Amino acid sequence: MRGYLVAIFLSAVFLYYVLHCILWGTNVYGVPPIEMKHRNKIQPCLSKPAFASLLRFPQIHPFLCVSDFRNTAIVTGSDQFYLPYGTKRSEAYFKLALSKLQSCDLFDEFDKVPCKRCVVVGNGGVLKNKSLGEKIDSYDVIIRMNNGPVLEHEEEVGRRTTFRLFYPESVFSDQSHNDPNSTVILAAFKPLDLKWLFELLSNGKINTSGFWKKPALNLIYQPYQIRILDPFIIRTAAFELLHFPKSFPKNQKPKHPTTGIIAITLAFHICHEVHLAGFKYNFSDLNSPLHYYGNATMSLMTKNAYHNVTAEQLFLKDIIEKNFVINLTQD
Ligand SMILES: *[C@@H]1O[C@H](CO)[C@@H](O)[C@H](O)[C@H]1NC(C)=O
Ligand SMILES: *[C@@H]1O[C@H](CO)[C@@H](O)[C@H](O)[C@H]1NC(C)=O
Ligand SMILES: *[C@@H]1O[C@H](CO)[C@@H](O)[C@H](O)[C@H]1NC(C)=O
Ligand SMILES: *[C@@H]1O[C@H](CO)[C@@H](O)[C@H](O)[C@H]1NC(C)=O
Ligand SMILES: *[C@@H]1O[C@H](CO)[C@@H](O)[C@H](O)[C@H]1NC(C)=O
Ligand SMILES: *[C@@H]1O[C@H](CO)[C@@H](O)[C@H](O)[C@H]1NC(C)=O
Ligand SMILES: *[C@@H]1O[C@H](CO)[C@@H](O)[C@H](O)[C@H]1NC(C)=O
Repeated sequence: MRGYLVAIFLSAVFLYYVLHCILWGTNVYGVPPIEMKHRNKIQPCLSKPAFASLLRFPQIHPFLCVSDFRNTAIVTGSDQFYLPYGTKRSEAYFKLALSKLQSCDLFDEFDKVPCKRCVVVGNGGVLKNKSLGEKIDSYDVIIRMNNGPVLEHEEEVGRRTTFRLFYPESVFSDQSHNDPNSTVILAAFKPLDLKWLFELLSNGKINTSGFWKKPALNLIYQPYQIRILDPFIIRTAAFELLHFPKSFPKNQKPKHPTTGIIAITLAFHICHEVHLAGFKYNFSDLNSPLHYYGNATMSLMTKNAYHNVTAEQLFLKDIIEKNFVINLTQD
């Protein structure tokens, strides 16, 4: 009899523990997720933002560190997925690229703001002639992406950049675009992207075959500025936020999130408040400008087979309606 009671008690304790882990985003192996406070001396933000309900690990450190990226990958399940959603079979490339970086820190050590107000600046043509620059510069954290320039567009998009997400085919190669105060984050979509970073930081030559567009052949950023995004963030964007299927029929190209949605996912993990600017497409006019810079038009976006723009627009509409984010590019 006593044996039964002990067994029941122990299984209740175990069940409680499993539930606790599920509810609080730790895993059953007892390894807590790598939290930001692990590497940042800043006070954690104690109040939970509304969008935290969308995330499984709301407080995870979003960048990989050379010393423990294998453990990080195991904890977040990234060792179960190939790129762009995980590290499986690309560990050697991650290790090489990470070995060339100087830091995996999130914020500056002097940064003491615990609950951050962030703005994610999309590259949409909707930013043209809106004069949102000053407003954008007023946020604690400003996240930009790809080659969306600040230079000569200060009035439209502001001057400051805290983070800039990039990949080899989208990164600036002209030094005039480097802001030494900004941290740039490689979102790796294929093993070659990591090899590319490693080779550029080793002063190697780049073999351009295997890229979908000519990649940058030089890097304007210094190693202290560069981070590698944990693929976990891209996976969260694809599966948890956009609800992409885990596999696509053979005759269809697999869809991946755009850098814009990846940037919002990153913001959800490091910010308390998230505002958006420049996330609007005008599909009713294929000749309208795609970006606030350059000459590309909307017709380019409709040809894109790699993204699911419909799913992304629905997602944006949803998070705006639920007040998880604020849309700055109102008309
Ligand atoms: C922005 O303003 C410029 C000059 O005022 C004008 O030529 C251009 O058409 C405007 N663009 C948009 C998208 O309204
Ligand atoms: C970088 O930050 C420093 C200190 O905040 C500031 O004085 C400087 O103007 C910034 N540089 C650029 C290019 O924004
Ligand atoms: C570049 O890579 C491709 C495929 O990996 C290979 O076939 C080619 O010989 C390489 N070119 C150079 C110049 O190394
Ligand atoms: C989209 O472009 C068309 C044609 O230029 C314009 O009439 C319409 O107002 C635009 N829609 C939005 C939502 O900006
Ligand atoms: C955009 O088009 C104008 C006029 O056709 C051209 O002068 C300019 O170089 C183009 N800009 C870019 C970034 O391609
Ligand atoms: C794109 O996403 C929408 C909404 O989730 C879905 O209905 C549609 O089937 C998707 N299209 C493709 C080509 O995956
Ligand atoms: C932002 O607000 C404007 C005006 O209400 C709307 O047209 C636009 O589609 C919104 N952006 C997104 C991403 O929903």
